[in-house]
Order: sequence, then C-alpha cells, then structure tokens
Amino acid sequence: MRRYVGRADTCIGTRRNSEPKEEHDMTETISSTHSDSGPAGVTTGAVPPAKSIPFTQVPLVDFQGFRDGTDADKKRVAAEIGKALNDVGFFYLVNHGIPAGDVADVFGAARGFFTQPAGRKDAVSSENTSNHRGYFPMGGENVDPAHTRDLKEGFDIGFEGPLAQEAAGKGGLRGLNQWPDDPPGFRPALERYYEHTVALGRDLCRAFALALDMEEDTFDREIEHSESRMRLLSYPPQPGGPKDSRAFGAGAHTDCGCLTILAQDAIGGLSARNSAGDWIAVDPIENALICNVGDIMEQWSGGRFASTVHRVINDSDRIRYSVALFFNPNLDVVVDSFKSLTGAKSAGGKSTTEEYLGCCFSETRSACQLP
Ligand SMILES: [Fe+2]
Repeated sequence: MRRYVGRADTCIGTRRNSEPKEEHDMTETISSTHSDSGPAGVTTGAVPPAKSIPFTQVPLVDFQGFRDGTDADKKRVAAEIGKALNDVGFFYLVNHGIPAGDVADVFGAARGFFTQPAGRKDAVSSENTSNHRGYFPMGGENVDPAHTRDLKEGFDIGFEGPLAQEAAGKGGLRGLNQWPDDPPGFRPALERYYEHTVALGRDLCRAFALALDMEEDTFDREIEHSESRMRLLSYPPQPGGPKDSRAFGAGAHTDCGCLTILAQDAIGGLSARNSAGDWIAVDPIENALICNVGDIMEQWSGGRFASTVHRVINDSDRIRYSVALFFNPNLDVVVDSFKSLTGAKSAGGKSTTEEYLGCCFSETRSACQLP
C-alpha cells in the first residue's frame, strides 16, 4: 500500500473543482445489500441521478423524526435528505442532537487556540507528523491552487483508535493527534465534539441508505472504524470583499469524503455553486449544522447525491471561525465504486480510502480521481 508523507501545503478532505459538474450517467445501478453476488438492482427509476439545477436556496431538514420517530418518520426524514442531496448536495440540519453547550465549547477552543502567538501554534505544527494532524498556518493549504490562494489557518485531529500508537510515525493516515497545552479545556472540547459529530455521521449514513431505497445498515460495515477528520478553521476578515479576487478564505472545491458536517459562527461567507454557475449563500442559521456530501458518497450513491462545489469568502470585518467534521469510511475500504459494498475485492488500480484520502492531501490530484 502506498504511504503518504505529510506536507504543510496540502488539503484535507477536499478536492479542487472549478468547473461545473457534468450530468450523471442515468444507466447505473446500485446494490441494496452486502451480498457478494453483485448489484441487486436498485435503479435510477427509484432515485434519479443528481439534478443539475440552478438551485437558489439550501433546504432545511429537522432530524428529530429520524432520531426518535417511527419507521415511517425515519423514511420521511430520509426522503427529505435524499431530495436535498439530489437537488443541491447541501442541507441544513436542526434537532441534530448535539448539545449547544458542546458546540459553544469547541468554538471557544478554536478562538482560544488561533488567537495565540504564532510560536505556540507552531509547536503543534502538522509538519511534525506524517499523518496530517495538527496546526497549519495561513498559506498552509490551497484547495484550488491553480486559481486562488486560501486565506485561512486550521487545526486537524483524526480517529485514534486502538492501533494509533503502533501506527504513529509510519507514514499512513492512522496515528496519534497532537494536542497543545493551551488554551485550557481544548482537548476535551474537541474530543467531545468529535464523538458527537462522528455519531451523527453514522446516523446520517443510515438516512442516506434509506433515501437510496436500501437497507438502513447498508453502509455500517464500511464506516465501522471511520477515519473521520475534524478541523478547526479561522478565516481573517476581508472587509468589503477580497481586494485580489485570487486570494480569499477557501477556493472553489468539492469535499473528498463521504460527508461533511459543518458548524459555522454568525459571520457567514460559505456559498455553494449551482448549475448556472451562481454562488448561493449558505448563511448561518442558529443551532443548525450544515451537511454536504463529498466525492465518495456521490460515487457510492451512483451519482444520485451531488458533491457540490463550494467556497468561503469572509467579507466581514471580523475573524470567521468554523468547525468541520469530514466523515470518511474505514481506511481499508475500496472506494472505487459502490461495488465495495457488495464485498467485491479491489481490482487493479482501485483505491482504498487511505490511498484516496492521501491523494486528496497532496498538492496535485492528477493521480487520485475516483473512476
Ligand atoms: Fe469544503
């Protein structure tokens, strides 16, 4: 298996994409089971390919009915999510079950960490590791380097798991997190929020399965040891908008993994691009999380769910903070297609999650497109 060595100027959980998406192949079929016998025949007749429409707003989904409702409630909520992902690729989620106090704590941790002197942040630089965990400074990542430079700094943690100690320093994505001494309460705030959002990611994958007319547990095996990453982000203000159109918060890109769960503060600045090329604001809604699927879930859904291009421009006069959870499959899952869920073995040249995400970290993605 290939191994990837960390770089300061790499992306995590994202890929660049500055061109509008093409229409999806309407002839694909997807499996409804883990059977080794291959696709079981859920077709686009049940769930159409993702629409290429000029959406003008992002739908809002109330998750309460999925969390504690009847089977009919769950299917209704899943259908709402499926429609949102089919039409837009993004949705707001309310009544998601994550305590507001824990969300506030992780934002407090982010604010406390990023406002420290550079030297204290550099002490936990991601360059200290080979697994892309820790702090990267402004300029440390550009998600669309052919067109723009990102104005942001970040701090990453990932899944540690029972083998983390053994894997540390061996060049793969598994391993240990780095933790700064300050601010106080930083580590427990992040670990608590990480647990909440990974659990929510598992529930959302179950809703995705229902939305695709599959068994609710269809994705469970592939996400059992989810290599999910969590990132704190700080975007400096650009009052009135960027003076240079090639330098702003985060350039146009899609996300690499299954699902992104984003908490953002009240500043705003995130927008998603529709098929007409218009940027639609994904403004903050109090107590709502923003969810969008990434390239792996678009692939797994047979193109029914859209991994939509988005960007960030902080044109306010204040620092913008956000917290992203990039929900990914197990590292050894083959992500070439939905066949991975049927138990089929990797064919030559197909990528595991670890290989694919490793590519997404790298500066060039020429070798890491999903087939
Ligand atoms: Fe993103």
